[in-house]
Amino acid sequence: MKLAERMSRLGTETAFEVLARAGELEAEGRDIIHLEIGQPDFQTPEYIIEAAHQAMKDGYTGYGPSAGLPEARERFAAYLNETRGTNYDASQIVITPGAKPILFFAILALVDEGDEVIVPNPGFPIYESVTEFVGATAVPAPLREKREFRLDPDELGSLVSDKTKMIIINSPHNPTGSMLTMDDLEAIAEVAMANDIMVLSDEPYSKMVYDGEFHSIAEVDGMQDLTILLEGFSKTYAMTGWRLGYAAMEPELAGQIAKLQTNSNSCTASFTQIAGIAAYDGPQDESEAMMDAFEERRDVMVAGLNELPGVSCLSPAGAFYVFPNVTATGVDSRELASRCLEEAGVAVLSGTAFGEYGDGYLRLSSANNIENINEALDRMNDLFSSL
Ligand SMILES: Cc1ncc(COP(=O)(O)O)c(C=O)c1O
Repeated sequence: MKLAERMSRLGTETAFEVLARAGELEAEGRDIIHLEIGQPDFQTPEYIIEAAHQAMKDGYTGYGPSAGLPEARERFAAYLNETRGTNYDASQIVITPGAKPILFFAILALVDEGDEVIVPNPGFPIYESVTEFVGATAVPAPLREKREFRLDPDELGSLVSDKTKMIIINSPHNPTGSMLTMDDLEAIAEVAMANDIMVLSDEPYSKMVYDGEFHSIAEVDGMQDLTILLEGFSKTYAMTGWRLGYAAMEPELAGQIAKLQTNSNSCTASFTQIAGIAAYDGPQDESEAMMDAFEERRDVMVAGLNELPGVSCLSPAGAFYVFPNVTATGVDSRELASRCLEEAGVAVLSGTAFGEYGDGYLRLSSANNIENINEALDRMNDLFSSL
């Protein structure tokens, strides 16, 4: 078979490969503790499931408008305005099956071959993959531990060229759990506005915040029209498999992104959109309890990791990942991640799964219960003590 040349430029997410290898080991009878995948280990709150059932019975089973149901676009715009102090209206919202397609569509719509996109590194691998897929260059913006893995706006400024079409930011951040401060966001906005560059702000972890206050770059004066703001339901409401996300953007771009949706998914399943409205309108206590559980697990993980020989770990401000520095173990982080799985039965990712600046780190997700997290730490302690 002769594939199109562009397929050679399309990357993937290592988490899914590690999950597959862990599955093989489990099939051989090994006990594996899963700390590799960014998927809440909770069930979607019942009231959201009921709303979806009811919506199906009420006839929300057919095609809907490509950009999303008008009532859902309106509710999601209102949610962003409530939580970010923006003033979006429904015409600026495009609803997609998960937030991920927006990354794909936004890059397809705005980035030409030969352009550059500045992406956080380490960062969500899809940013670089899609950028390279369209024939553009992903320019890494290093996130360094000495800055608590927060993008350095001065360094960002130095990466801008006349080919830069987009800057991608992600706060709270996957994989480091860092969160940009309002000062950071204002400084990043200054770079974007001075050079008239669109910012794609990936904010699916906006409710997973443990220290400090969440802010969006869209809040900064003059930035709303220069921002594509991504939100979703996967993480906040444990709805990864439902595939429901959306973005807010300048209305003309929203029309173009909706056209890309017409050409691909047609639309997002109508009953899931109704369930999304219910998610926002209903009681938030279950979602808040999940966020509290992630915070407690973060504390257990960070404390446990800092006890391991050769490991030091910052306490992340948000998201549900920890990103320990393992350079003092003397073992390459790829090899260490592999040995954690093969020898200790703990599935983790090497920081390099998120780019070259992730070298020397591991990423662990706290999407597992405290008992399993403690068992994983014990197993890792045995392994790390023997290195
Ligand atoms: C940074 C980041 N952006 C986007 C997504 C995509 O989420 P969704 O399930 O809404 O497509 C993820 C999922 O892991 C993520 O970590």
